[in-house]
Amino acid sequence: MRDTVRFRLDGVLHEVRNPDPTLTVLRYLRETLTRSGTKEGCAEGDCGACTVVVAEQAHGAAVFRAVNSCILFLPMIDGKTLYTVESLSGPHDALHPVQQAMVDCNASQCGFCTPGFVMSLYAHYRNGADTNEGAICDALAGNLCRCTGYGPIVSAAKKMGEYRQIEEVSPAPLDTDGMLALTYVDPHTGAVRKFFAPQTIVQLGELSEMYPDAVYLAGATDVGLWVTKRLRVLDTIISVASVAELRVLSETKDTVEIGAGVRYSEAYQALERLHPDLGELLRRLGSVQVRNAGTIGGNIANGSPIADSVPPLVALGATLGLRKGAAQRMLPLEDFFLAYGKQDRQPGEFVEKVIVPKLGAQDVFRVYKLSKRFDQDISAVCGAIKFTPDRGIARGVRIAFGGMAATPKRAKAAEAALEGRPWNEAGVRAAMAALEKDFAPIADMRASARYRMEAAKNLLLRAYRETNGESARVLAEQAMAYE
Ligand SMILES: Cc1cc2nc3c(=O)[nH]c(=O)nc-3n(C[C@H](O)[C@H](O)[C@H](O)COP(=O)(O)OP(=O)(O)OC[C@H]3O[C@@H](n4cnc5c(N)ncnc54)[C@H](O)[C@@H]3O)c2cc1C
Ligand code: FES
Ligand code: FES
Repeated sequence: MRDTVRFRLDGVLHEVRNPDPTLTVLRYLRETLTRSGTKEGCAEGDCGACTVVVAEQAHGAAVFRAVNSCILFLPMIDGKTLYTVESLSGPHDALHPVQQAMVDCNASQCGFCTPGFVMSLYAHYRNGADTNEGAICDALAGNLCRCTGYGPIVSAAKKMGEYRQIEEVSPAPLDTDGMLALTYVDPHTGAVRKFFAPQTIVQLGELSEMYPDAVYLAGATDVGLWVTKRLRVLDTIISVASVAELRVLSETKDTVEIGAGVRYSEAYQALERLHPDLGELLRRLGSVQVRNAGTIGGNIANGSPIADSVPPLVALGATLGLRKGAAQRMLPLEDFFLAYGKQDRQPGEFVEKVIVPKLGAQDVFRVYKLSKRFDQDISAVCGAIKFTPDRGIARGVRIAFGGMAATPKRAKAAEAALEGRPWNEAGVRAAMAALEKDFAPIADMRASARYRMEAAKNLLLRAYRETNGESARVLAEQAMAYE
């Protein structure tokens, strides 16, 4: 067992013994290391001002992840190499190509957002610097600028590859043998707080029995905000992020199995292969920074009624694997959500994996996310439908919605209206009417109840129109016209 967090920064090994487990990387950089280049804007993962790059070896290659340091706890970078905006300056303060491109394209005014943009672009640069505009916009969707306008920043992203390449510091692997087990004594209250990062499922199982009240931690894109926004003090944290068995993403002929420690960005390709709509949904979930940290396991475990990954996985008939100690159980994903904020999870039990059936060649599947902004926004409504057409008859209909009830939920009345009936507009309109029996949505700042109901109905109609060969993708058509 180790009581010291170890990471590399600018080639120097940093060792921090028993730190406050929820000290953010941002605070550590600014307050302890007095590296103030990294900024704090929102402290909740939205603005990207705090973006840093975390690098590690994966499958024999270095992977560079832009992440929000404001919601990243220091123990989460154990064993990794950290890059901040200060890391980029070369000998005699020479600018890095990313920085030079920003200067040459006039891509900064007040400059507050600039270090964050530079670091998002730096990760993009180190990962191959794709100059496709869509890829660049994706890379920047987690960074807000209130004064420059995004055109010059996108121009800088396109230009940065043209500068002379410089020799980069490579992320060297660090010795992190043994489980990280921190004990922190609060200097003000004397209270003891613990953090564990087990490396095997057996260690995690043992901890789950020893500390049934512990908070599980994966990417901290929800838990981070409990600390920075709700000022919660977490007594015992068990991170699932280093558990080898939970980091596995595997495929069989019929299923994709996603371990609870697999990040969105790591699951993207497998899910996009499963269906392009799933890829598009993931591409619009949070930002690069959020997807580089957050997990589908965390999205499910959090139990939010607007968790985007849940409606499509429920429509696909996914199975959830839970575990405590050595005891495992599997349940249909939809049965996990009991009521608002209440899931079918015993004290100490953790999410181990989710198993997603692949679609058959004839299956029809659609997922739609409606949010006020296209990128980096939480859904007002997220809906998914799956069925198998059999000589014009809809069979095996599964429909699930997020944002329509206190939990993500199947639309069983709408399913019944479609099941075994001809897949035609009359049937779909009957299902649309049946949604009134399935849901009584609430009104909140994201959408009114009436909007939600109308939108959910129209998503079914949209699915019908699309399967009927009609285009219903208004935004896609607008984008094509613009190009
Ligand atoms: C800026 C921003 C944008 C976002 N945009 C979206 C969005 O568009 N759509 C969306 O759905 N969500 C969004 N989110 C929410 C968040 O990213 C997701 O819910 C994410 O999937 C949580 O995963 P995580 O790994 O970060 O979980 P964590 O924050 O680590 O944990 C989340 C919850 O799950 C529990 N938990 C984690 N892993 C396990 C486990 N293995 N077993 C048991 N419990 C576990 C934790 O205790 C906690 O209750 C956004 C968040 C931010 C900050
Ligand atoms: S400070 Fe806004 S994302 Fe971190
Ligand atoms: S340059 Fe001022 S916020 Fe972007």
